[in-house]
Amino acid sequence: MTAAMADAKKRRAAEAALKHIPAGSVLGVGTGSTVRFLIEALAAHSGLVRAAVSSSNATTTLLDAAGIPVLDLNDVADLPLYIDGADEATRARHLIKGGGGALTREKIVAAAADRFICIVDDSKLVGVLGSFPLPIEVIPMARKLIARWLEARGARPVWRQGFVTDNGNHILDVHGLTIADAPTLEGDLTGLTGVVTVGLFARRPADMLLVGTDQGVVTI
Ligand code: 5RP
Repeated sequence: MTAAMADAKKRRAAEAALKHIPAGSVLGVGTGSTVRFLIEALAAHSGLVRAAVSSSNATTTLLDAAGIPVLDLNDVADLPLYIDGADEATRARHLIKGGGGALTREKIVAAAADRFICIVDDSKLVGVLGSFPLPIEVIPMARKLIARWLEARGARPVWRQGFVTDNGNHILDVHGLTIADAPTLEGDLTGLTGVVTVGLFARRPADMLLVGTDQGVVTI
């Protein structure tokens, strides 16, 4: 699949999400190349959203350029919908996210929203999560400690060197996981001291997946 073909599917998924946005609402907006198409579509439908809550500095920059006001989550009482991409997704709507390193703010905005619609191209749909290395945001001083714990469980954590999250933390990308029970693993890893956020979105999964394909968009 060429990049242009993948982009066409991402754009299809992003545009299919528009009809689910309550008119005049504040929208939670995720991060990544699929969300970039969503922001383009929002810019073309001026007034569809009143404002946005952003999940990353990168998304805030795009929203600013699109002329969409960005609100602090602390100032928003009602967030009916969050729309974001994913790195992997199952038919149970469990996700791996954080390829772009924005997992913590993404998880916060997803938790705050009444509904979470995930927009992906069909290359992201998998039977079992884990081929994509699982991102974990960690407090920098705990990086090696957490890496040793993960290694003891048979996983292979790789430090995303040179990358600092919007929150000033580090990312471990964990290879070698076959994630049969995503909600349990999410809980276990989140409980490790020094872990800020695990890129598994299973305890609060997406409510709807919009999957862009060559033929159109499949809703799960
Ligand atoms: C960023 C994310 C993104 O949603 C994920 O990486 C998918 O990105 P893209 O739409 O570029 O494939 O979790 O932290």
